[in-house]
Amino acid sequence: MSQPLNRREFLELGALTAGALMMSCSAANDTKVKVPVFLDQAPDGPPLKAGLIGCGGRGTGAAEQIMRAGKDVRLVALGDLFRERLESSFQALGRAGGENFAVTKERCFVGIDAYKQVIDSGVDAVLLATPPHFRPAHVEAAVAAGKHVFVEKPVGVDAPGTLRVREACRVAARKGLSVVSGLMLHYDESMQRTIEQVHGGAIGRIVALECNYNVGGLWVIHRQPGWSDMEWQLRNWYYFTWLSGDHIVEQHVHLREAGEEEPRGRREAGAPIHQDDGRLPLGDALEETEERMA
Ligand SMILES: NC(=O)c1ccc[n+]([C@@H]2O[C@H](COP(=O)([O-])OP(=O)(O)OC[C@H]3O[C@@H](n4cnc5c(N)ncnc54)[C@H](O)[C@@H]3O)[C@@H](O)[C@H]2O)c1
Repeated sequence: MSQPLNRREFLELGALTAGALMMSCSAANDTKVKVPVFLDQAPDGPPLKAGLIGCGGRGTGAAEQIMRAGKDVRLVALGDLFRERLESSFQALGRAGGENFAVTKERCFVGIDAYKQVIDSGVDAVLLATPPHFRPAHVEAAVAAGKHVFVEKPVGVDAPGTLRVREACRVAARKGLSVVSGLMLHYDESMQRTIEQVHGGAIGRIVALECNYNVGGLWVIHRQPGWSDMEWQLRNWYYFTWLSGDHIVEQHVHLREAGEEEPRGRREAGAPIHQDDGRLPLGDALEETEERMA
């Protein structure tokens, strides 16, 4: 962080981020995505109040990070589909957050409409970390209510949902709202410097790109007596395409981002070879869906 910013400049920078994300959404052509300067700490100013929607592993982590982002960045509301997920997150965040943890029992909301209640609870910003199926509806509602948004990846599970988020990004940019993506490689300084070097020719002309993703097994939540099919699926969302988008959308999005703007002819593990014009099949599907929806 080189130069301090005041709160107004901070929010203007956030609006620029929304613009950058919007450009990224439409990067099926030759558009270069400009990455703004990212801040290590939020500048001082009036307290910024945030609410978390989706209190699982990532949401709880994101909420902890926002509470550490500056001394006046408060977490004030939590929402989740399931009470026990909210309660364990409440406990963990209470221990981690210090005075920036300002969630009261009255601002804890459970159920399918919890997102609306968090959005309406007087927050300035919301963190969206449910399974991705719900993302388009949640982003739209947050932007419509004039909230800044941190939105976990992926932003949707299919082309229509992703286009809804792209449109919401456009609305956010017009309103001067920040929409920041959970695609963390985008904000990783070492990654940015590496990409700069690669683009500067440090390793010559790239003719192929291979991405590998080495991780352990996924969790499974065993079905309990009395659960409906819906509850069982929601609790095991990774395994259901309608909720997660499946592996390529849900996980490969990180590698897809890392390979953004690479030359033609690359191949990524588990993904089809790109077409001659460098576009992924998903990119084509998005464009075609947009044309049909126009
Ligand atoms: N950027 C990253 O590095 C990264 C890392 C992990 C996860 N993620 C993303 O974060 C999101 C959440 O992943 P996770 O690992 O935290 O999953 P998780 O299952 O631990 O958490 C999801 C939470 O959302 C709740 N939920 C489900 N439907 C809801 C709804 N309609 N309204 C409110 N709450 C709802 C669940 O009860 C659960 O508590 C996913 O999109 C995932 O891809 C991103």
